[in-house]
Amino acid sequence: MRKLKQVNHLMGLLRPAVEDIQARHGSPVVVDAGSGNAYLGFILYELFFKDAEGGTVLNVEGRPELTQRAQERAQRLGFTRMEFQTAHLDTAQWPERIHLLTALHACDTATDDALAVAIQKGADHVAVVPCCQAEVAQLLKDSKKAVEPTLTMLYQHPWHRREFGSQLTNVIRALTLEAFGYQVTVTELTGWEHSLKNELILGRRVHKESRPARLKLESLLGTFGVQPKLARVLGVEPSPRTEPAPL
Ligand SMILES: C[S@@+](CC[C@H](N)C(=O)[O-])C[C@H]1O[C@@H](n2cnc3c(N)ncnc32)[C@H](O)[C@@H]1O
Repeated sequence: MRKLKQVNHLMGLLRPAVEDIQARHGSPVVVDAGSGNAYLGFILYELFFKDAEGGTVLNVEGRPELTQRAQERAQRLGFTRMEFQTAHLDTAQWPERIHLLTALHACDTATDDALAVAIQKGADHVAVVPCCQAEVAQLLKDSKKAVEPTLTMLYQHPWHRREFGSQLTNVIRALTLEAFGYQVTVTELTGWEHSLKNELILGRRVHKESRPARLKLESLLGTFGVQPKLARVLGVEPSPRTEPAPL
């Protein structure tokens, strides 16, 4: 029921993106990355694609038993333009063109794989609700010596490092989208009583890239001495750390 509440709420937030791609493309392609039981895909299809002339919803999931079960359900329902692929996100076969990419609670760096694909394919819209994230917390631990000492106080304790790492991860994700030409909105998915993993990052592609956002991103990575997977895959390098200006 909690998942249903989240997905239903997400539908309202995704509606403008879906209506936009349906208005502009005859056969829009929606990809849900790390789709699990494909709840999101089923509801998207039911609401927006079942009665439309065209358009596909591709669900990519690493666990074959989930893909198989969801595929059987789609067949039973006659959802013929719902497609399924069992694959790890960083080696999946992606369609040439993606119009909307979603990733709901895709674990740790799976959200980054999803974002990287969206950016590389120039998806018109992106919507991710990140899940647990461990990568940046580990990178912060490893980079401590290279970071300005006052800043390291923000994440000396493991608990703080996990929380701060999670915050920094999502800031990096939003800024990366901006650097690659997306207009970004970060908002709450639904009430905290339904899920603790509740941050929704929405992106709409408005231009090819943003140089100022790219510079901010490189500076942020350089300041904390981290280059997480999303930055590595997209070739974004941390800028060399400069001494802070005196107050
Ligand atoms: C927490 S579940 C969320 C599933 C679904 N999006 C939902 O909200 O109901 C995360 C799903 O992502 C899948 N997953 C995690 N990492 C993946 C990866 N690198 N490649 C493909 N699937 C992945 C898991 O198998 C799992 O089904």
